[in-house]
Amino acid sequence: MPLLKFFLTLNVFYKRKVVMKQLTLLISISLSITSYAHPNQFKDGDAYAIVANPGQNARNEIRINWHTDLENTKSFCQYTLRCDTSWLQAKTVMADQQLCTTFDGIYSKGTLGEDFYENARFLRCTVSLLGLEPGSEYMYRVGENQLSEAHFFKTAPLSGVWSMGIIADIHTYSPLPKRLEAAMEMIGTLENQNGGEVDFMLHVGDVCAWGGSHSFWTTMYAQPHFAKYVWAGVNGNHDDMARGYAKQTNEYFRYVNSYPQNGYEGEEGVCYYFTYDNALFIMLNNENMRDEEGLSLAQEWVKEVITNNSADYIIVVEHYQWFFGEDGKDSHYARWKLLFDEYKVDLAISANNHIYVRTNALYGDCETDGTIGTVYIQAPSSDNERGMEMREWTSNKDIIKYRWTEGGNTVGAILMQTNPEKLHLILYDRYGNNLDEVSVLKKYNLQNL
Ligand SMILES: [Fe+2]
Repeated sequence: MPLLKFFLTLNVFYKRKVVMKQLTLLISISLSITSYAHPNQFKDGDAYAIVANPGQNARNEIRINWHTDLENTKSFCQYTLRCDTSWLQAKTVMADQQLCTTFDGIYSKGTLGEDFYENARFLRCTVSLLGLEPGSEYMYRVGENQLSEAHFFKTAPLSGVWSMGIIADIHTYSPLPKRLEAAMEMIGTLENQNGGEVDFMLHVGDVCAWGGSHSFWTTMYAQPHFAKYVWAGVNGNHDDMARGYAKQTNEYFRYVNSYPQNGYEGEEGVCYYFTYDNALFIMLNNENMRDEEGLSLAQEWVKEVITNNSADYIIVVEHYQWFFGEDGKDSHYARWKLLFDEYKVDLAISANNHIYVRTNALYGDCETDGTIGTVYIQAPSSDNERGMEMREWTSNKDIIKYRWTEGGNTVGAILMQTNPEKLHLILYDRYGNNLDEVSVLKKYNLQNL
């Protein structure tokens, strides 16, 4: 009998242990679901999704965007020069706040691959920091009752000397966090190649797998690389969509950024332009120029922007590729080349194809010596997950100079370094290998020699 009692006790103990284990698992799963269903996980003070964007003139205006809970109706931004370490000279700007429900109730996915609906009713906060000193390092923090950590940005210089990281197709997706990790490590590689940091960051779209998933944006913006740079970017097809194409809208991209409101009707804060030192950047949204009418609206706006703004370099950025990297066939190159020739666009940057493709300066479909024409470059993907294989190169062999991909597991990005005579772009892989480079010459300067 004592032996039987011993085994019975052991059995009860064992069952209890199993039940306890199951309970612990259930609690941890439900906690994970709760935390990923709400941006609280990525709160920095009482704010989340904090990002700095260029103003129309990035020498003296930077715009900050963040989100906060509904009760924080007096959220503000404090900023000062980075050397003012005690914040003694800090200025305070109250945020413009608006209720944002665009992301609320969107069907999404959490870190465990679980399905959930985004719980995302929040106040979208924006400030425009004006009258900044060119070529200076600033720090800022946002919030109301509890301020965020210090974030940083640099204003554009006057010198013609600056650097920019270019990254694309990150496809941030909570169930597969290694995508974002790979892209952030790639930015670290660019920084190392540039001697520590870059001056600002450009993304070429598809930074999120589903732009409608607010938690993907808050996850991404919580990464350290978003706290230390001004970020400019374009809307990608993935940023424009909710899971399963339930809804497609440029509102996702608009409300997680505060870009200059100088775009054309319906595209304010999505299409925009800004000058960074001596370069004019014109940022497009492919999703609203799929048909001829949409394309024509965008092109009229681009012509107007170029006509009304002078700069040493004109740079046009869109998400969709100029060429299909698989075999070299024309893609959006065919839609834009005449305009770029006529309006003397110096550099055209795209992505989406997940294969790097680069030309030398082209004018009238022919390669030039660089004193006229547009350099076309499309960034590779950077997520180590959704890359593309190349096939036999059959088209545009006379004008495409280099293609590159690592297949499905591609991680690459571009570093742009400038001096008063040229923009210089270098493609790096994840190991910091310099794979390809091209210079974009300052045109009128050469003509004046
Ligand atoms: Fe993509």
